[in-house]
Amino acid sequence: MAFSALAWTAAIAIPAVFAQDRESDRSKSPKIAPRMQHDSHNTTHWPTKPLPWGEINFIHTTDTHGWLEGHANEVNYGADWGDFVSFVTHMRDKADQQNVDLLVVDTGDIVTGNGLSDISTPEGQLSNPIFRYLDYDLLTIGNNDLYDPNVTRQIENDLVSYYEDRYLTSNVLVEEDGKNTSIGEKYKYITTKHGLRIMAFGFTLQDFNSPPGLYVQGEEEITNEEWFNDAMNKTVDLYLLIGHADIGQSCKIKTKYHGDQNPLICMKDWFRENKPEIPLQVLGGHTHVRNFTCYDSGSSGLESGRYSDTVGWLALSGVAPSDTWNGSKTLTDVPMPTRTCTPHSSTSSSTTDKTVRLDRRYLDFNRQTFAYHALGATGPDVPASFDTPTGQYLTNDIEGTRSQYKLTTELGCAPQSYYIAASPYNCPDNIYTLVRSALNATVHGNNSDSARLIIFNTYGIRYDLYQGPFTVGDAFTVSSYADIFYYIADVPYDDVTKKLQGELNARKGSDPDYEEPKKDCGSNSVRLSTSRYAGASQQNVLTSRASDPDNLNPGHVTKDDFGDCSVNPEDCGDDTLHIPRLENEPHPYFMQVKGNIDENETKTVDVVFTIDIQKSIIDLLGLKDPVVKPYMDESFTTRDFLQVYAKTVWCEKPTCEIGP
Ligand SMILES: *[C@@H]1O[C@H](CO)[C@@H](O)[C@H](O)[C@H]1NC(C)=O
Ligand SMILES: *[C@@H]1O[C@H](CO)[C@@H](O)[C@H](O)[C@H]1NC(C)=O
Ligand SMILES: *[C@@H]1O[C@H](CO)[C@@H](O)[C@H](O)[C@H]1NC(C)=O
Ligand SMILES: *[C@@H]1O[C@H](CO)[C@@H](O)[C@H](O)[C@H]1NC(C)=O
Ligand SMILES: *[C@@H]1O[C@H](CO)[C@@H](O)[C@H](O)[C@H]1NC(C)=O
Ligand SMILES: *[C@@H]1O[C@H](CO)[C@@H](O)[C@H](O)[C@H]1NC(C)=O
Ligand SMILES: *[C@@H]1O[C@H](CO)[C@@H](O)[C@H](O)[C@H]1NC(C)=O
Ligand SMILES: *[C@@H]1O[C@H](CO)[C@@H](O)[C@H](O)[C@H]1NC(C)=O
Ligand SMILES: *[C@@H]1O[C@H](CO)[C@@H](O)[C@H](O)[C@H]1NC(C)=O
Ligand SMILES: [Zn+2]
Repeated sequence: MAFSALAWTAAIAIPAVFAQDRESDRSKSPKIAPRMQHDSHNTTHWPTKPLPWGEINFIHTTDTHGWLEGHANEVNYGADWGDFVSFVTHMRDKADQQNVDLLVVDTGDIVTGNGLSDISTPEGQLSNPIFRYLDYDLLTIGNNDLYDPNVTRQIENDLVSYYEDRYLTSNVLVEEDGKNTSIGEKYKYITTKHGLRIMAFGFTLQDFNSPPGLYVQGEEEITNEEWFNDAMNKTVDLYLLIGHADIGQSCKIKTKYHGDQNPLICMKDWFRENKPEIPLQVLGGHTHVRNFTCYDSGSSGLESGRYSDTVGWLALSGVAPSDTWNGSKTLTDVPMPTRTCTPHSSTSSSTTDKTVRLDRRYLDFNRQTFAYHALGATGPDVPASFDTPTGQYLTNDIEGTRSQYKLTTELGCAPQSYYIAASPYNCPDNIYTLVRSALNATVHGNNSDSARLIIFNTYGIRYDLYQGPFTVGDAFTVSSYADIFYYIADVPYDDVTKKLQGELNARKGSDPDYEEPKKDCGSNSVRLSTSRYAGASQQNVLTSRASDPDNLNPGHVTKDDFGDCSVNPEDCGDDTLHIPRLENEPHPYFMQVKGNIDENETKTVDVVFTIDIQKSIIDLLGLKDPVVKPYMDESFTTRDFLQVYAKTVWCEKPTCEIGP
């Protein structure tokens, strides 16, 4: 049986006429009124609560993974990097006006996960020069920046040489010419505008599959280094530990690849032990969540989301010494932080003699949020004064780059949203249900519908797929990795083969039995309405933030050490309140797709897989030196199957609405 309609080579060709039409349409007025990306949408949900400002304040991003264009189909995160640059410019001005300090920090993972970063080889060639328009005060490196030495070298060329001593890698070494060298600076001693003395470090996690020649040091090695002793020999008002690592872990952890610790947390513990009188702030990342944790009354940690969905805000007061600090200790026209951290457990004692007052906020990455906090704008429109010339330039630059590399090319209209963890596995709006259909429809050798068992690593799917126009760029965000499909022909379809998925999952400690929906699927709208703020607290939401809960839209609902947004909006860290989505629905490590298999009739199948699971599959099937060949043209990878599916099944629609 021929699959001519789905032949991927034909289908993947970009409809040139359409693409050109769209581009010329879009380029009508970008020079006059650039405002985020033209395919992005405005949110109607403005924030209502001004930010707290302290003596020293932080703007924090992490795990941006190349998402410099924002999220076209999600109103909460519609801003782009140009908008963010404008925001930071205004916030720096505001800090100057208030006579306080503001530092802007990124904690790594700037590639892998978006077309802007991943379409080039090595990753980051296009996105790094855009990223660095943000004039960060401090940055550090993430594991995704370190897997491929060519990517790391690109970062050295584009970012380390640009940010110079602001790029910190306190515990990452690369072997070059037989010598261990540091990618960035080990530490930075900062005296802020108003005289606060900060000693900053950048610590990266150890536990990842690092390439040969890359070493990530742990606490024992770090504290034995000479440079570390030098750093300790400085008068400091605040230790600042930025890091690409989980802020919520303990020092000692169970690891998979390397070491037995989270160096960021071990170093935090070291400082609390050895310099207990000096306040300490951690800014972390890696786990892609919003989180804030109190370690003790003088130290806490913040993590600020992922994929340009969040700007983290932190305000500290009570850290500046009155003799050397010349900023304002009291602010009159903005709120100041009033809260204090109490230790997590009774074992970690409160050791500091200073009382740090602090607060945190997670800002949704959209222009309305930025304009509200930067200018006090309340809508309905974002004032023209928000956009700085650099911001506008960058918005155009991003749009131009996306279009030049065809990332804006629309492949089809996604009729609904599909979720990784916001919907139970095997339900219609779970993304793996869509992935199964798409693999079935597009992965077939020589355009024939031979019986095939396709085994797919579910962790290759990196992001939800949102209702609305589905572009080449979206395919990069949902299925980022470019893995070739290989196969072993004519494997007997016997009990062993039928159990392959289950056995693979069992090896990964994942539930082997995942064929049917485990839960009542319900519908997304039902799930959302039943998970709303419960009872009395719904009333709080209503009155305290002057917003109608029926008017909230789905998004992050964060629980951290200063409060649970699903319970009480007053102490909630989310700057804009949202209706919660489910967020922890489990899925198996591997899924299977039965292509044209008849349980009773099929005698042999092609077993299709990506290279990472080849060894396990051969092993489990008990095969000796089987022939493994590419199943399809090698240019068709896991980055393509959704594109072909969208092109052939969803098609173009005259209008294509985004979801709620
Ligand atoms: C890194 O770059 C070198 C030189 O351009 C190339 O030979 C090598 O294949 C690249 N490595 C990877 C993993 O892409
Ligand atoms: C680099 O450091 C690592 C970890 O400390 C060590 O194992 C390795 O031998 C060092 N390499 C060189 C060339 O010094
Ligand atoms: C405040 O202190 C900083 C750092 O010592 C110094 O550079 C700055 O000039 C001072 N500003 C004023 C207004 O005195
Ligand atoms: C700093 O280093 C110098 C010289 O090594 C030493 O004499 C001094 O005691 C150190 N100061 C502190 C605060 O550790
Ligand atoms: C936030 O940090 C706490 C530790 O304070 C941890 O227990 C929790 O799991 C973290 N939350 C998330 C969503 O990672
Ligand atoms: C977003 O709002 C601006 C005005 O602030 C408007 O010019 C623009 O057309 C709106 N974009 C969309 C997609 O509605
Ligand atoms: C796979 O595709 C075939 C032929 O298009 C179709 O009949 C079948 O229902 C599909 N199976 C799945 C699981 O999507
Ligand atoms: C496709 O056809 C070629 C040539 O006949 C053959 O060698 C190859 O194994 C076939 N591939 C698949 C996936 O059936
Ligand atoms: C396979 O055969 C069994 C027993 O004859 C029958 O009950 C079942 O419906 C058949 N299944 C399929 C998929 O044809
Ligand atoms: Zn990441």
